[in-house]
Amino acid sequence: MQRIPEPELMEDMAQAEAYDRADFSAAHSARVELFAARYGREITGSVLDLGCGSGDILERFAKKYPQAQFVGVDGSFAMLELSRRRMMRAEISERMDFIEALIPSKDIPLEDYEVVMSHSLLHQLHHPEVLWQTIADVAPKGSFIFVGDLRRPESAADAQAIVDRLSPNEPAVLRTDFFNSLCAAFTKEEIEAQLKDAGLMLTVEEVGEIHILVYGVKR
Ligand SMILES: C[S@@+](CC[C@H](N)C(=O)[O-])C[C@H]1O[C@@H](n2cnc3c(N)ncnc32)[C@H](O)[C@@H]1O
Repeated sequence: MQRIPEPELMEDMAQAEAYDRADFSAAHSARVELFAARYGREITGSVLDLGCGSGDILERFAKKYPQAQFVGVDGSFAMLELSRRRMMRAEISERMDFIEALIPSKDIPLEDYEVVMSHSLLHQLHHPEVLWQTIADVAPKGSFIFVGDLRRPESAADAQAIVDRLSPNEPAVLRTDFFNSLCAAFTKEEIEAQLKDAGLMLTVEEVGEIHILVYGVKR
């Protein structure tokens, strides 16, 4: 099926709070473990998270990697506000910096990042090349890139069947969001073409029924 893009930013506080309240714990814990299995060592430097949202994955990374420092970037003030509050509650805000920036942006600090990651941002972008170009620009040579997202099913009917099977009891608004996100996601072939255009040599791996990972060392 053809891709159907979603609105990019989650700017509205009510929408941001609904997303923040949703229980993504299984998928988000699994994401940290997928990273750990591919990175295979401690993080002792800094991690850049592009499109950090309300910070649930960021918090899980911070707890798994207590020596790491984090920079979270998001274009939505509402999402960043939720992220800041979350880190205060978890008492890890001293290891966090947040930057409000709409990618592509010159406001992303250029640091010697050990890891540059992004979760569930790619499918929201109307111009996916901005993510890959940003990574090409800000990730230092030798840093580890890790991008995770949904992948698009073959048809709208398949997308609906996935929503019905995996989220039968979620509120209607979250079921609709999930369906729209599946329809807005990219396929493995599309992502491989995007990487080629950006000059990034990374592995693209389909994981489970609905996810896709892009990772590797920046050359
Ligand atoms: C689906 S949420 C994912 C949040 C978080 N990474 C997670 O996995 O829970 C996507 C986030 O990307 C942000 N976003 C979308 N387009 C963006 C852009 N061009 N620049 C910066 N942030 C963007 C949205 O505001 C939202 O917080």
